[in-house]
Amino acid sequence: MGKVYVFDHPLIQHKVSMMRMIDTPVKDFRDLAKEVIMLMGFEATRDLPLKTVEIETPICKTSANVLAGEDIAIVPILRAGLGFVDGMLELVPNAKVGHVGLYRDPETHQPVEYYCKLPSDIERRRIFVLDPMLATGGSAVAAVQFIKDRGGKDINFMCLIAAPEGINALAEAHPDINIYIAAKDEQLNEHAYIVPGLGDAGDRLYGTK
Ligand code: PRP
Ligand code: URA
Repeated sequence: MGKVYVFDHPLIQHKVSMMRMIDTPVKDFRDLAKEVIMLMGFEATRDLPLKTVEIETPICKTSANVLAGEDIAIVPILRAGLGFVDGMLELVPNAKVGHVGLYRDPETHQPVEYYCKLPSDIERRRIFVLDPMLATGGSAVAAVQFIKDRGGKDINFMCLIAAPEGINALAEAHPDINIYIAAKDEQLNEHAYIVPGLGDAGDRLYGTK
């Protein structure tokens, strides 16, 4: 059974608040996205397996813990999820990166798929799906389903801001996955945007509005 984690760390809360501000420039927004995902990733990788090896310090020989080398896949949902890839790769540089391309139809708010390319051995990897916004949950539910259809099993979803509707939809459709959220907001507006949210995450990352 998966769990839902909402972060209460002051550094995460502060940085998310900076990202929400309408006047935050694109460069700062990108830098903050990287910083927040690194802080979240620190916690989301907490149970990565370790192994003990013999090492020698300048003082003596000793046994020390190092990562056992579990294979990881990072899967951003295009396009806004790309803003999280560099930060996660700083933490787990040997991870492979897959991509799922989805956009939300502006009228129906339903996800439309346009791309999916995953590591060929996805079934044996710990998977971190990245997307800043979990609004209706339609995109996340569809992305996780694509990954499962291609064999993915150990799936973790990481987002910046989530609406209750999106959390419920994702947890109901995929009760086996872990969901990591930096901030849980109040509701969706009539355009299915998160309130108060931060606006359109893709536009804010890439300056396209
Ligand atoms: C945004 C966001 C999510 C989706 C969330 O993407 O990055 O993928 O909306 O909404 P949902 O939970 O209601 O599905 P968008 O469709 O704007 O595409 P973009 O990343 O290409 O801008
Ligand atoms: N997608 C976004 O980028 N922002 C929202 O608030 C909802 C969906």
